[in-house]
Amino acid sequence: MEVISIGLLGLGTVGSGVVKIIENHQDKLIHQVGCPVKIKKILVQDLNKERAVDTNGSKLTTNVEEILNDPEIDVIIEVIGGIEKTKGYLIEALKRKKHVVTANKDLMALYGPELLEVASENNCDLFYEASVAGGIPILRGLIDGLASDRITKLMGIVNGTTNYILTKMSQKGSSYEEVLKEAQDLGFAESDPTADVEGLDAARKMAILASIGFSMNIGLDDVHVEGITNITEEDLEYAKQLGYTMKLIGIADLEEENVEVSVQPTLLPDSHPLSSVNNEYNAVYVYGEAVGETMFYGPGAGSLPTATAVVSDLVNVLKNMRLGVNGRSAITPQFRKQLKEPQEIFSKYFLRMQVDDKIGVFAEITSIFSEHGVSFEKILQLPNKQKSQAEIVLVTHNASLHDYEMIMEKLKQLKTVIEINSSYRVEGSANI
Ligand code: HSE
Repeated sequence: MEVISIGLLGLGTVGSGVVKIIENHQDKLIHQVGCPVKIKKILVQDLNKERAVDTNGSKLTTNVEEILNDPEIDVIIEVIGGIEKTKGYLIEALKRKKHVVTANKDLMALYGPELLEVASENNCDLFYEASVAGGIPILRGLIDGLASDRITKLMGIVNGTTNYILTKMSQKGSSYEEVLKEAQDLGFAESDPTADVEGLDAARKMAILASIGFSMNIGLDDVHVEGITNITEEDLEYAKQLGYTMKLIGIADLEEENVEVSVQPTLLPDSHPLSSVNNEYNAVYVYGEAVGETMFYGPGAGSLPTATAVVSDLVNVLKNMRLGVNGRSAITPQFRKQLKEPQEIFSKYFLRMQVDDKIGVFAEITSIFSEHGVSFEKILQLPNKQKSQAEIVLVTHNASLHDYEMIMEKLKQLKTVIEINSSYRVEGSANI
């Protein structure tokens, strides 16, 4: 019986999971692809490092050429991360007619279209299910499961670190700093959490999701990004009182032919299905014209969950090999990218500010909103600790981003507005 040989680039958290799944699920793999699957060589940084996984006779090497030059290796699995150097490896692999499976969202968000083109020129498959939301089969869900539908909106909790932090802040009433530290101690946040907490990791995933969902090339630069570092316990407490849950939400929205893609802290009604996605879990909410609302939920990271997505991609490559159709499943974008203008982006907003507690201040504030045709859904006015000041918390009805930015500018110029503490997007209405 023939054996399919794999070259694995990287033996870290995900790489070890790939080794385990290929070993432990070998019978199922043989049943699906018709022959044994073996990891022949593994690229590592340090040959002498102790490994938590039994590599079953795979040859460990520090020289990528040993893998790329091996004519017996048909598929490269890339789980080393990194961008420029890794891109070079994958292009070389594709040019040498080796199919590629990657978990690398940073690379795919930046160079996806270019790499897919090289794959197609070489009749090779390039699959990247694990790059978005770890173990959730969302890319295949969009590409295959919803192939017949027109997707008009995607909303995702696609970063586990920030979801964990916001869940704990909200449940315990603790500060961002306290929960981040705790998350780092428990291994739920990286020692350098910048890419997660500033929203960049989620933005990369949303660029990939939007590109597939809307069949157009959406780049990282097209995604408006805000992170969670300025969210306070007070914001979360007020959100709760108003019937909302704070999440870092990626939104990709298509109206007519124009799209908006963003990642920002967003208030969702407690009843929204994404509001109950807690801790490190991920979920992607998909609206299709025909199917209506669907939600994909599961682990967004971790060794075995992410490796499941990687090995499932491998199975698809191998099935295509049996059928002799590699490189034919990639679909070039159907549409040219057209981004919405700020006048076309509508949302509700939560705003919290400290004002002078004087007669007429509230009227002054509301008149700025009414000049722009924006009314309020909810308002709370509370006395501040400082007696001469009041705290105003409000949720607007729908406003265009253009109008909202002008309102914010005018509010900042009012002498009676002492401080604008926070401003967040709101999706949907809470029933309180
Ligand atoms: N750092 C990511 C997260 C996991 O926190 O969700 C890998 O994409």
